[in-house]
Amino acid sequence: MPEQIGKRDSFASKFGVIAAAAGSAVGLGNIWRFPYITGENGGGAFILIYLFFVVVIGIPAMMAELIIGHRAKRNAIGSFRVLKPNSPWVIVGYMGVLTGFLILAFYSTIAGWTLHYTYLSIIDAFSNKTPEQLSNIFEKFHTSALLPVFWQVIFMIFTAGIVIAGVSKGIERYTKILMPLLFVILIILDLRAVTLPGAKEGLNFLFKPDFSKVTSVTILEALGQAFFSLSLGMGVLITYGSYIEKDNKLINVASEVALFDTLVAIMAGIAIFPAVFAFHFTPNAGPGLVFKTLPAIFQQMPAGYIFAILFFLLLFVAALTSSISLLEVVVAAMTEELKMNRKNATLIGSITITILGIFATLSFGKLSGFLIFKKTIFDLLDFVSSNILLPLGGLFIVLFVGWVMKKDDVLDELSNKRKYGVPYFGTYMFLVRYVVPVAIAFIFLYSVGIIAK
Ligand code: TRP
Repeated sequence: MPEQIGKRDSFASKFGVIAAAAGSAVGLGNIWRFPYITGENGGGAFILIYLFFVVVIGIPAMMAELIIGHRAKRNAIGSFRVLKPNSPWVIVGYMGVLTGFLILAFYSTIAGWTLHYTYLSIIDAFSNKTPEQLSNIFEKFHTSALLPVFWQVIFMIFTAGIVIAGVSKGIERYTKILMPLLFVILIILDLRAVTLPGAKEGLNFLFKPDFSKVTSVTILEALGQAFFSLSLGMGVLITYGSYIEKDNKLINVASEVALFDTLVAIMAGIAIFPAVFAFHFTPNAGPGLVFKTLPAIFQQMPAGYIFAILFFLLLFVAALTSSISLLEVVVAAMTEELKMNRKNATLIGSITITILGIFATLSFGKLSGFLIFKKTIFDLLDFVSSNILLPLGGLFIVLFVGWVMKKDDVLDELSNKRKYGVPYFGTYMFLVRYVVPVAIAFIFLYSVGIIAK
């Protein structure tokens, strides 16, 4: 068993565990990326493939992270050090912490935009504007130097403010409020969208499987989306798993979180596409869909003022609970590995991330000409973390559980020390040893361009 360290914070309730982990998973990836790529990849057909990957690959990989963290009771770096001392596996932990740092830097850029748009919707800035004017508002805002940085800093202050308060008194306390709030807002937006005249076309677009649009790219796209959406590959669930003390079944945590994450993604599609079609916009506007198309829709729709506020608040809440998890990976590593107190770790972590993040934000405007490997700072951070570091981290994490940990120890974790039976344990080991690593290797080779797109 691992050596003991000082008393660690932990989640106080089962619901808190689910709220925190689901809060991490549900984010910008669900609310704008999922609907958009679903639309481009054959709607219902893409959703079916996505569901298959969530079950066969996502859930086993989530369980692998939880197993590592729960067994070691340590941060992402310390967990590998404790479970396999004096081995290079600790590098996987370092890589995870670095990835968290990089993701939060660019994630906070978009999160800042959601705050600005919440503000704009509250002051009713969209009313009586043409779609062109709204598009110009977005262009001008996100390329300017001061305002997006201002909102990014505000967003990071919210994130740090919650993380600094600790695991049960900060993360758990706030996600327990924010996640139900998010769900209620989403239900209201769904009800609004499906009752719009012309909603049906949008629902058809989303759910009618069109297998003619499915290609090998679609399949890899679905796998990549599953990884990002479930927050896999950098130790969020290693870190959160280490805070699970109550008699939680790790299998249930993984499957409930995966189910909820998928439900939210589909519900976000239901909130967006019926409205897009009802007001005759195009569904494939990409990143601008949320910030240009939706304001145009809201200001034409009855009571759109309220729905605009609710929508951007939803985006903000989703981004916040994901950012908390990213910062926690960094903070947990700094407190335990460098023996810092939580306050200093949170301040130093969030300030350095914000500084890097400001460069990401400015790379849409002032620094847009500053290119590294032909990419802006924002695109480079996104590419390196999402397409290289996450799949690589995910690969090593499942290999660690499949091949390095003792099978008995893995079973101990899944059965809560043999208190419960684990009916498909053999299947699980087969998945983490062979199926999941091979699948991840494929997305990896694809996303770095070694397999042709
Ligand atoms: N899953 C979140 C989303 O869909 C983003 C996120 C948070 C994430 N933590 C992560 C992605 C860790 C990868 C790894 O927006």
